[in-house]
Amino acid sequence: PSEKGWLSENIHLYQGFWYSTGVLNGLLILQQCFQAQPSDILLATYPKSGTTWLKALLFILTNRTCIDNSEKNPLMTTSPHELVSMLESYAAKNPMNPRPSNSLMHTHIPYTSLPESTKSSGCRIIYVYRDPKDVLVSCWHFVNKLKPNEIPQISLVEAFERFSRGVSPYGPYWDHVLGYWKASVEFPERVLLLRYEDMKRDPCFHIKRLAEFLGHPFTTEEEAGEGLVSKLVDFCSFEKLSNLEVNKKGSHSGFGFPVIENKIFFRQGQVGDSKNHLAREMIDHLDQITEEKFKEFHLINTFSS
Ligand code: A3P
Repeated sequence: PSEKGWLSENIHLYQGFWYSTGVLNGLLILQQCFQAQPSDILLATYPKSGTTWLKALLFILTNRTCIDNSEKNPLMTTSPHELVSMLESYAAKNPMNPRPSNSLMHTHIPYTSLPESTKSSGCRIIYVYRDPKDVLVSCWHFVNKLKPNEIPQISLVEAFERFSRGVSPYGPYWDHVLGYWKASVEFPERVLLLRYEDMKRDPCFHIKRLAEFLGHPFTTEEEAGEGLVSKLVDFCSFEKLSNLEVNKKGSHSGFGFPVIENKIFFRQGQVGDSKNHLAREMIDHLDQITEEKFKEFHLINTFSS
């Protein structure tokens, strides 16, 4: 089945999730040809759950020496989205060679539809999830900034209605989270779940967890003195990243768009902004869906407000 997506494009239901034509083409190529390596690191997210932040953190974590040398820190001059390629748009652009040059990659593909080699190779998967109410509001702002002059803007009421029905980019949101959550319970050595809200509250703690999961824990020396962990966290903070010239003025291509302004990936970077946008009934409705969906799998709904 097909429907109209948030950008008025045609979207298609495939293996239980919704995709635009371009993204689905990329996904089909990946399912056929992508060969993950055991050393690969795959960041997986539902859109607007903290991808940009985690891309920067993962890049710095795996290239630790560059943090103290701003001249040699690629994040100073390049968007995290260019440093860590999104698999599905990469594959759509490079169908003959669906593998980026580095081992750090990103995808929005739900767990059930991931290329088989990402599961059999033993590569590490990091999944970040976020309160669906904040995800919805963030997505709505983002989509309306993507092509502001070319297509009719989607209203928040319409976005809410589609999101609640699961008809959203890579939706349903809840099935997306549950797929990775189940995998993290079954294969904790391969799949790590992080929650955006927890990372905001105590970034250092979760970065250390992440480093350990990747097999590169911080040494006592690295944590001592000025503290590499806090430096890294500080460099990747919303305030620092969003104020870099490259992220204020630059652009890159991706998601089937020739030009995406880097700045639209930075809006507020806060927990709970959805309450400034959604009506009480909308909040209650989304909380209720989350409660029901997560209860079934004994995953506690920590997002009720
Ligand atoms: P808001 O729209 O709520 O502000 P993604 O990177 O997955 O596209 O998600 C974008 C969301 O993450 C936006 O949320 C954006 O502001 C926020 N964000 C971007 N960089 C961040 C950072 N360094 N720390 C925390 N949040 C960040």
